[in-house]
Amino acid sequence: MPLVGVDVSSHSVKLVELGVGGKTAMRLERYAIEPIERGAIVEGVIEKPEVVAEALSRALRRVSASTKDVALALPSRAVITKRITLAAGLTEEEYEFQVESEASQYIPFPIDEVNLDFQILGPSANTPDEVDVLLAASRKEKVDERVAVAEMAGLKPVIVDVESYASRAAISHVSDFLPNRGEGQIVAVVLVGDQLTLVTILLNGQTIFEREQGFGGVQLTQDIVRLYGLSFEEAEQKKRTGDLPDSFHQDLLQPFVALGAADITRALQFFHTSTPFTRVDQIFLAGGSAVVPGLCEAVAARTQVATELVNPFQGMEIADSIRERQLRIDAPSLLVAAGLAMRRFEP
Ligand SMILES: Nc1ncnc2c1ncn2[C@@H]1O[C@H](COP(=O)(O)OP(=O)(O)OP(=O)(O)O)[C@@H](O)[C@H]1O
Ligand SMILES: [Mg+2]
Repeated sequence: MPLVGVDVSSHSVKLVELGVGGKTAMRLERYAIEPIERGAIVEGVIEKPEVVAEALSRALRRVSASTKDVALALPSRAVITKRITLAAGLTEEEYEFQVESEASQYIPFPIDEVNLDFQILGPSANTPDEVDVLLAASRKEKVDERVAVAEMAGLKPVIVDVESYASRAAISHVSDFLPNRGEGQIVAVVLVGDQLTLVTILLNGQTIFEREQGFGGVQLTQDIVRLYGLSFEEAEQKKRTGDLPDSFHQDLLQPFVALGAADITRALQFFHTSTPFTRVDQIFLAGGSAVVPGLCEAVAARTQVATELVNPFQGMEIADSIRERQLRIDAPSLLVAAGLAMRRFEP
């Protein structure tokens, strides 16, 4: 069933539609990134639903998606997740009941205001007659506000996922191209956004470490505003095109990149001191600010770990209408949207 992945984030709306390839399992059919007015989404909360819905409509007009069915994601911070163990071999209904009664212990608000979901991960490591269950809970209003925005834009949400799960799905696809298909590899996914950098470290598809750093693209935008007396919007624009005075490189870009590399290195050091793990095998840079010139190289040099911009469309056919050069710039910021679009291929 066709499905469009829709990542509604604070800076832009991102759409990705994947289809079945001729020679490959997946094919990138179309994508769009449409900026959202500043202040419409603040810290994951949709403050101006009409404005966000308009951005989504604009993005939809730019691509003619083959379906109205979409997969959305909640920001990870809007979701409480917990691993619990339950008896093995229960019926679906019994699991639902058990999960609900267990969940009430972890959720700080009334259970009837909550959307609850769970997934049976498999047999528990220690006790054969138990299973590990991952439960995810969020406030109904968080889900409703995102569903409402999609509906305002004429879409039909069929899946509401979590951003971190969606990016993990995309990373799992990309990891298939690592040595030994990524098995046993410690992979750091570094999402460099506007305000924050989220470092997630994975081993065999499981998250083993997570940390937020204060580094983000907005710092560079603000530096440009300050030094060249531009408006925020102009600065944002010129940051992308690089249409700035010669001094930009030395005075702003280099210090910014050095700061980012130091911040990311600090996160990895924290990973080493707070877990039994002593290495990282691969760093994938993702998010809108991953493509800032020199950042990838600086992170590789500083951390001494193989670092590359993530390409969630690796190994996929690409539709003729897509400009590959532009895609290379956009791909790292499409990690979540791509992970959502991949849901159509899951049972
Ligand atoms: N081509 C580019 N070159 C440099 N910076 C870019 C480029 N494209 C986007 N950015 C920067 O990336 C940041 C936006 O990142 P991203 O798109 O990952 O954020 P978001 O997903 O909208 O927000 P959230 O943090 O809520 O997930 C902004 O600071 C923006 O200026
Ligand atoms: Mg985002």
